[in-house]
Amino acid sequence: MNFGCDYYPEHWPEERWEKDVQMMAEAGFNVVRMAEFAWVKLERGKGQFDFSWLDKAIEILSENKIRNVLGTPTATPPAWLAASHPDILRVNKEGIRTSFGGRRACCPNSSTYRTYSEKMVSKMAEHYKDNKNVIGWQIDNEFGGDGEKGLCYCQECAKNFRQWLQDKYKTLQKLNQEWGTVFWSQTYTEWEQIPLPRQLETAHNPSLLLDYRRFISDSYISYQKLQIDILRKICPHKFITHNFMGLFNAIDYYKLAEPLDFIAWDNYPNLRFTGGNKSPAKVSLSHDVMRGLKEENFWVMEQQSGPSGWQCVDPNPHPGEIRLWTYQAIAHGAEGILYFRWRTSRFGTEQFWHGILDQCGTATRRYEEVKKIGQELKRIKDELIGLEFPKEVAMLTSYDEQWAFDIQPNNPKFNYQEHFASYYQILNTLNIPVDVVSIQADISKYKLLIAPALFLINDELVDNLKEFVKKGGTLIITFRSGIKNWNNVAFDEPLPAKLNDLLGIEVVEYDSLSSVHRCKLKLIHPEIEPLQGECDTWCDIIKCRGAEIIGRYTQSYYKDEACLTINRFGQGYAIYIGTNPSPEIKGSILRWAIEKSRVKSSFQVDPEDIEVILGRKEGKDYLFFLNHSNKYHQVKLDRIYQELLEKREYFRDSLMAIEPKGVRILCRT
Ligand code: GAL
Repeated sequence: MNFGCDYYPEHWPEERWEKDVQMMAEAGFNVVRMAEFAWVKLERGKGQFDFSWLDKAIEILSENKIRNVLGTPTATPPAWLAASHPDILRVNKEGIRTSFGGRRACCPNSSTYRTYSEKMVSKMAEHYKDNKNVIGWQIDNEFGGDGEKGLCYCQECAKNFRQWLQDKYKTLQKLNQEWGTVFWSQTYTEWEQIPLPRQLETAHNPSLLLDYRRFISDSYISYQKLQIDILRKICPHKFITHNFMGLFNAIDYYKLAEPLDFIAWDNYPNLRFTGGNKSPAKVSLSHDVMRGLKEENFWVMEQQSGPSGWQCVDPNPHPGEIRLWTYQAIAHGAEGILYFRWRTSRFGTEQFWHGILDQCGTATRRYEEVKKIGQELKRIKDELIGLEFPKEVAMLTSYDEQWAFDIQPNNPKFNYQEHFASYYQILNTLNIPVDVVSIQADISKYKLLIAPALFLINDELVDNLKEFVKKGGTLIITFRSGIKNWNNVAFDEPLPAKLNDLLGIEVVEYDSLSSVHRCKLKLIHPEIEPLQGECDTWCDIIKCRGAEIIGRYTQSYYKDEACLTINRFGQGYAIYIGTNPSPEIKGSILRWAIEKSRVKSSFQVDPEDIEVILGRKEGKDYLFFLNHSNKYHQVKLDRIYQELLEKREYFRDSLMAIEPKGVRILCRT
């Protein structure tokens, strides 16, 4: 297992480095990431490169068998560069250029920024190409992060955006037609007339807004490529990765991930004050989204290891929590865990973003916990590297869908990611293993597919879904699907357009509910638990054109109308959920779909606080039991198992106790 931390030796006197590295070695570390914000320490002034301090840190680490991942430091260009070339800084929606002082404030399209980045990355690559202790690169840091989703509205963006549009639409006539610019007299007669979607009193054309999101995403992808091309050429034997941000959605992560050797991500489960406390299921969802980017295992390049915070201090991880987060990551496919950060900074914006050690640098309770994990992982060796996960259920997503909903949420209460997570959460509670994959992935291997809110539809997607169901798959689609084409223009067919025959329905009317408004409904299918419940946000009023009704409204002017349906299509079933029902109703439908499609759970366990994840390797099953609660739990076992961490055997019918925040890994062959 790749195990270590994010290390900033440049923040501490050199005399301390030996001691740091010795403590890291005692904790079982074998890798650190360094330098991703160290541009000014590596290039003091234009062309004045100095790698000596980093060489020294690498040497000390190497003497202790700790290898290095180096970040290209382009997320923080130095003050001397910004002062002489302010054009590297992003321009915001109001047309104001960002000032120097934060980070990731650069425009991915700035040609000056690109030129200086090229120079920096080439120099660094040349310097470390033969250093065996540098095993790989992290490009930049968290693309798209640090404000306003990384969008820029500068003149270079305007120029490149128009070129991007020209490449896509070829003629202005085509663009005008696709965007419907006849609306509000927006027909363009010159490419230069097309605006950047800067701040307006009203609102821009949704097609322009969506293309702008695509363009900015492509701009980061092409900026990343610039660095990849240099690194591949100079250092062909070192890996290249980038640290992604879980559910963050400003960039098309599928495309960003494509040219990388593997992806890494930054996992902060507990940001109560600074970003919302994530439920354990949300953390698992993030891991699964990350694993789905390349449909491969990944690293956690930054794993929370202390209370976070810039201005305020978030709660401290409870005893056992860092260990629980670590095994949760491994259980979902992590093959590298690096804690952020080694020692809490004394200065700068992140004085309160705690690492393993506090500012004083002595061993903390958190250090002791990390050391314990290090010992366990050392003993397990690489047994948990290369796990594979059952492929029975997938949830489908795309960044285009997410951006379209960012632009028009349809209902103020609707949040695509929350909607998506509400289905994942139920599967997670039932311990059903889930892959989260792109709408372009090969879906033929799955038995059950859940495709929440497919707002935008294209022919390829519709054909794939039909093929999947025709061959016996079960598909669940939810409301606001089949509304628009890929250029964000509404269809002129009955809804859900192009999905009507697959779903055997027509949505004849809909009602967007106010935030306090709920509607009642009931399940009426003989095979489904006959629950009554409530729904909110949105109510589709459905006429069946071949589908069977599984749920009806029991209130409002659409009382007795259908809201939930199922259609036999070929060998399979297509289920439509035309509203946002309570979790109990969703659960009832999901349990039925799971049974119908013969999907297996990892392990049937009663307590809801226990997450059980199944990984496989070389004919061996690994069951991870994660107790996310503060209570003791007992699990009755169905056969003989070997436990990997305690190194003991459990017999059939024995009760396995799991302490609060505890972890057990059971193996069976
Ligand atoms: C991450 C970032 C780290 C650190 C941390 C705390 O998103 O990659 O460099 O800044 O947040 O703010």
